[in-house]
Amino acid sequence: MLILIASGYEQLSEWAARIVAKAIRNKPNLVLGLAAGSTPLGTYRELVRLYKEGAVDFRDVVTFNLDEYLGLPATHPQSYHHFMKTALFDHINIKPANIHIPDGSIEANLEAYCASYERAIQEAGGLDLQILGIGRHAHIGFNEPGSSLRSRTRIKTLTEQTREDNRRFFAPGERAPEAAITVGVATIMEASRILLLASGEHKANAIAKAIEGPVSASASASALQLHADVTVVVDEDAARELQEKDYYRRVAEMTARLTPERLW
Ligand code: GLP
Repeated sequence: MLILIASGYEQLSEWAARIVAKAIRNKPNLVLGLAAGSTPLGTYRELVRLYKEGAVDFRDVVTFNLDEYLGLPATHPQSYHHFMKTALFDHINIKPANIHIPDGSIEANLEAYCASYERAIQEAGGLDLQILGIGRHAHIGFNEPGSSLRSRTRIKTLTEQTREDNRRFFAPGERAPEAAITVGVATIMEASRILLLASGEHKANAIAKAIEGPVSASASASALQLHADVTVVVDEDAARELQEKDYYRRVAEMTARLTPERLW
């Protein structure tokens, strides 16, 4: 794991966008895994800026989102469909046919639908780069505690903690979703490269579990320790509980000096 500690959210977003933009320049038809949530918002805003400057072109990029709430139509303001549209897709030249997000409105044949989403990723050639946020108890996507580290796209029941974390986005009185469609841990682990982002003190414990804790289905982000090409970009607050923080800083400095191409 390459762990980059940014001074704050702005720098984190800038670094993450640089990594993504470089990956697209290297492979214009990049298959890009996307995450919703507040963490990657700054990265998407920065990518839009780079696009407007002509520094990155999304014409041939193919995207697959990690997850979507079950029971929310794409038009619902809290759906990840709506989030992605307003945060990124409406502002770049990606082809609508190249965008994939699990359909939260399906009501029948859920397993067959999940299998078809998984197949679509394989048919696109697999994920080249997967962007991830992290949940409070160190989950990736909606791979809540107890998610098999070999799991594939499926329906997951949300924990009360996750529902609580997201309740603020829903109107008073509106029921926050109880389940979601999420790609699995194994799906994520097959991405060629992974970019994990976290900002803020409320993510410090999750980041410590993911990077330094035991590999465990109770904290699906810890599976990333078994992946050979993970870049973690965190800010100072999210890095607070890392035991080896000073060492990670030295590794990053050395990487910048010896193999700068590994950064961006
Ligand atoms: C949800 C999403 C994750 C996301 C996490 C953190 O659980 N399924 O993909 O990483 O929330 O969200 P935020 O970035 O808003 O803190």
